[in-house]
Amino acid sequence: MLELIDLVKHYPTPGAESVRAVDGVSLEVGRGEMIALYGPSGSGKTTLLLMLAALLSPTSGSVRVAGRDVTSLSEREASRFRLLELGFVRQSFDLMPGVSALDNAVLKLLATTRWREAHRRIAPLMERLGLTGRLHHRSETLSMGERQRVMIARALSTEPSLLLADEPTGSLDSARSREVLALLRELSRERGVTVVLVSHDPLAASFADRVLTLSDGRLKATEPPALAAATPPPS
Ligand SMILES: Nc1ncnc2c1ncn2[C@@H]1O[C@H](COP(=O)(O)OP(=O)(O)O)[C@@H](O)[C@H]1O
Ligand SMILES: [Mg+2]
Repeated sequence: MLELIDLVKHYPTPGAESVRAVDGVSLEVGRGEMIALYGPSGSGKTTLLLMLAALLSPTSGSVRVAGRDVTSLSEREASRFRLLELGFVRQSFDLMPGVSALDNAVLKLLATTRWREAHRRIAPLMERLGLTGRLHHRSETLSMGERQRVMIARALSTEPSLLLADEPTGSLDSARSREVLALLRELSRERGVTVVLVSHDPLAASFADRVLTLSDGRLKATEPPALAAATPPPS
């Protein structure tokens, strides 16, 4: 489903050696598989996700999603790909202030669906994310955790085949993190969504099929020792 082939991103730096943010990553992720990607700050996690989202061109190598090379798409094709096939929960929140949780969540759906139908389609997802009581609250009045869940609802609203999430539990308490991770896990299996989760949260590892570590732009399949202590989810 997702295939990274010797992916490289070097950022040129004037007057210095270029930064080797991603330095030869090869990886295959299956349909419905959920992987957790760990790595210290500056290890290249966000750069990697931006290339998977066709938001950044690699220096070399390629990214295939369902057999298609997304690194060679035109601007127009790339934005269609992001709209229809991809869900991306970014590290920064991009909720519109003054607009309700519900209207923020349906933004992507509204590109292809009428308002009433979009509201109807997203309702079950809002319910599962525990947002039913917040639908009509303006985004700036929501807690950080609620905002994060609105972003997750928006990302999943179009039923993407690939979901990228950059620290999706970064501002959630552990009970809410567990719920969000369990939901991602469930939806990924149910709908065959491939999930690439970037996290610092040891909890994420216990929900993923595979845990990978990025270090200086290179991938390692070993689990960092800190993660071994992560408590498994209740069964
Ligand atoms: N636009 C950019 N220009 C130059 N260097 C960058 C840029 N974006 C990221 N970097 C550098 O690339 C490396 C990886 O960054 P990033 O992908 O943001 O890592 P992470 O998300 O793991 O913290 C860092 O050394 C960072 O400073
Ligand atoms: Mg980052």
